[in-house]
Amino acid sequence: MTPADVALLTCPTCRGALVFLGKTDGDAIETGSLQCQRCAHAWPVRAGLPHLYEEGAVRGSDRFLRFVYDIIAPFHDAAVRFALPLMQFSSAEATRDGYMERLDLASLAPRRDGVPLRILEVGIGGGANLPLIERDLPMDVDVEVWGADLSVGMIAQCRRRLRSGRLGLRVRLLMADAHDLPFPDASFDRVFHVGGIAGYRDPARGLAEMARVARPGTPIVVVDEQLDPHGSHGLYQRLIFRAITIYDPRPHAPREHVPAGAVDVVEEQVSRFYYCLSFRMPPTRAAQATPPGGQPPMSSGNEGHPMSTVKDILSSAELANLVAGYDEAAMKGILTGFFPQVYPPTQDYIDAISEAFYGALPPDDATPPRTMLSLRDRERCLISILASRGAGLTLAIHMYIALMHEISAEEIAHILFLAGIYTGVDNLAGGLSAEVKMLTTLKVLAVLPLPPGPLAVITALRVAFPR
Ligand SMILES: C[S@@+](CC[C@H](N)C(=O)[O-])C[C@H]1O[C@@H](n2cnc3c(N)ncnc32)[C@H](O)[C@@H]1O
Ligand SMILES: [Zn+2]
Repeated sequence: MTPADVALLTCPTCRGALVFLGKTDGDAIETGSLQCQRCAHAWPVRAGLPHLYEEGAVRGSDRFLRFVYDIIAPFHDAAVRFALPLMQFSSAEATRDGYMERLDLASLAPRRDGVPLRILEVGIGGGANLPLIERDLPMDVDVEVWGADLSVGMIAQCRRRLRSGRLGLRVRLLMADAHDLPFPDASFDRVFHVGGIAGYRDPARGLAEMARVARPGTPIVVVDEQLDPHGSHGLYQRLIFRAITIYDPRPHAPREHVPAGAVDVVEEQVSRFYYCLSFRMPPTRAAQATPPGGQPPMSSGNEGHPMSTVKDILSSAELANLVAGYDEAAMKGILTGFFPQVYPPTQDYIDAISEAFYGALPPDDATPPRTMLSLRDRERCLISILASRGAGLTLAIHMYIALMHEISAEEIAHILFLAGIYTGVDNLAGGLSAEVKMLTTLKVLAVLPLPPGPLAVITALRVAFPR
């Protein structure tokens, strides 16, 4: 990024203009700060990267996921490429082609004022979309791609990709939070985001920010996980889907948060696990960017996306099987060995978990087919989590709780709920019957630099039991 590029940036808190003060390397900014001309805040520039976000604002799921992304950054793009076909039975390329079409890059024409066209990817990650942008752009246009991300690990992967020299695109990278994009209104000719909005602490604000920085009339494209509401899915896929969306109680296209006044709103499924939500903002400024907490534009947004419950995912026989696996003594022994800091649990700990489990789940609703778990079922589910031999999943819960210093009661309840499902996966796999095998796997799991989930469990099994 050059000092001239800084002209496109604004202070993420007050939107004031920024001036670079510091050292350059050639014509690129290297170290120093971007000084806000309005509120005087100095935003650091380190190793050529502007850090335009407030650390204190990165909380909850954003903070946890940034931690995860920093760890998995080196494997992320390859994992998506190779694991996705195994999980959803269609390739990552087909999924990406589905949403690239909505960006409609082919219709970009050079601007009359000579300013380059600008494309913003919010959450650019390792830059896996860059080759597709390059592929789809018309030959004769002058384009700058801007990529913002919160994970320094993922941005480092993106820089590696850019250094490899395989791309001809002009790309500007910065550290920024999707909730406070450091750009003036109407700065970009395309704005898109893939794969992170379900983990945002405030998806409505993320969408409002994308709408704000998009030039009126240009496509805004958002892609993330949603199990195709119109498809039929086997147990394997329903379980895998829940596993990869562990951080989200209800992975769905956030139509209800599309800013008021948006036009051409299209929600479509680009593969079994991914939706693509696209829209445009009309030319009137007044209609743009609903502020966070503003009026939702379209009904409840729940149509076609009923809340899933354990009963939607596991049959009663499977659920009964989980409950039948109860062996409290064995479980206590395992937990005491692995979590000496929380086991045996203190009364405070039990109270917090119980409060979360019973207090934060949605209320019972007797109307089929959206029956929520009864109190008794919740209790049984909790018992099955604690008792079953799928203790790797209990480990996942505790890793999650330990990492999420600001975890909410709702999140704990959600994790417990999902852990019940994970437990089902382990039971169905049937491969962990011998206690010794489970303990060895758990030991490997505890040191694996992978986020909790089936990938971690499978990798741990492979490491623990090569053959
Ligand atoms: C699943 S990755 C996808 C990366 C890339 N868009 C792709 O399609 O391969 C999601 C990215 O969003 C980033 N991200 C998550 N929350 C963010 C936030 N609040 N602000 C900016 N980036 C965020 C993560 O760091 C991660 O790099
Ligand atoms: Zn400022």
